Amino acid sequence: MDHFQLKNGVLHAEDIPLTELAEIYGTPVYIYSAATLRRHAQVFREALKPAGRVHLAFAVKANPNLAVLNILADEGYGADVVSAGELNRALQAGVAPEDIVFSGVGKTADEMRHGLQTGIGQFNIESAEEGHELAAIAAEMGQTPAIALRVNPDVDAATHAKISTGKAENKFGVAIDQAPALYAELSAKPSLNMRGIAVHIGSQLLSLDPLEQAFGKVGDLVQTLRGQGLTVSHVDLGGGLGVPYAPGEVPPSPADYGAMVARVTRDWDVTLMFEPGRVIAGNAGVMLTRVIRVKQALGNPFVVVDGAMNDLARPALYDAWHDFVAVQPNGETMAAHIVGPVCETGDTFARDREIDAVAAGDLAIFRTAGAYGATLASTYNSRALVPEVLVDGSNHALVADRIDPATIMAAERVPEWLK
Ligand code: LLP
Repeated sequence: MDHFQLKNGVLHAEDIPLTELAEIYGTPVYIYSAATLRRHAQVFREALKPAGRVHLAFAVKANPNLAVLNILADEGYGADVVSAGELNRALQAGVAPEDIVFSGVGKTADEMRHGLQTGIGQFNIESAEEGHELAAIAAEMGQTPAIALRVNPDVDAATHAKISTGKAENKFGVAIDQAPALYAELSAKPSLNMRGIAVHIGSQLLSLDPLEQAFGKVGDLVQTLRGQGLTVSHVDLGGGLGVPYAPGEVPPSPADYGAMVARVTRDWDVTLMFEPGRVIAGNAGVMLTRVIRVKQALGNPFVVVDGAMNDLARPALYDAWHDFVAVQPNGETMAAHIVGPVCETGDTFARDREIDAVAAGDLAIFRTAGAYGATLASTYNSRALVPEVLVDGSNHALVADRIDPATIMAAERVPEWLK
């Protein structure tokens, strides 16, 4: 359920017609709905009620916009961060340091120090090497950070290969059968407070089965560790719940997810932690674009829009589907390819797709672009960096500027010897 609906023949974001937003802010532009973000945050929290003690941390990578993070902080979400940059954003948005989890396979020593200085709630470490390095840095700084060990359960998440993270060959976590020895070794370090296990097997998961399989393995590990006399008070179950992108795609509901988690973790007696990204932000954003022209071709025509692969990269990166919907549909449809102006064939949003009939000058949206949308944007082809707008009822505001090519050029230099 989202708040991008047709009213009087015009698509609205909450109370505002998208035609008005296009007029004010130009296109392409990302539009977020605050009501949708809040609703998703509440639905996910509600769904996990049966699971007992729960800590929710929004995966900042999905949508790091400060306004978005502010809304989620107000909803009581902490933050899952993977860089010093994300950590600073979360702090700036008002997330309490103790509600921040630092994930990621490549934290640098500087980033570890920064996390320790700011007093974040937990580091999720992903290797023996990282554990030893963090122990040394924490000892130097006289701190004992809370640590979860991320395990790799070798489970196939049945999602796109580029966003699958829980197979043995992926770079993430430590092999689950090596975890007991490493956990024991790190628990003996006086500068680490080893308190839990973390797992995340991938993103855009459309079935609960691989999650249940992974969580089952984690449950066994928790028992093993306790059997060794080790403390496990927290388990971070990651993110990963999918959202509907294409027609007919039905991801598990948060309620079904919550029920599964409650059942599998019933006897664990831990605080469960979650790092949802897409399920909170995905449907809370669209990319609004204008049709530049409709180019006739041998087969179906090419609808050339002013948004491109640099603005919404998911189709080019993961062959992802984003629904394309006219802002003022006239009831007709057409078969077309949808492409952007960037000079490569990968700049294709859809091929041979049945879409609302559109003509040059018409507005349309790509739906479900609120997660991994603007944050993956670039300025390729010296295009502007796409702006972001937040709608909240009848309020709207630019929450990230369109950064034009001249501003980007101003940050470049030609060295003296070339002049
Ligand atoms: N926790 C960890 C450790 C993660 O690696 C991720 C996502 C999440 C949480 C959040 O997962 P979510 O709930 O959003 O599925 N750019 C790709 C997605 C990359 C996901 C990476 N990790 C895309 O556009 O599909």
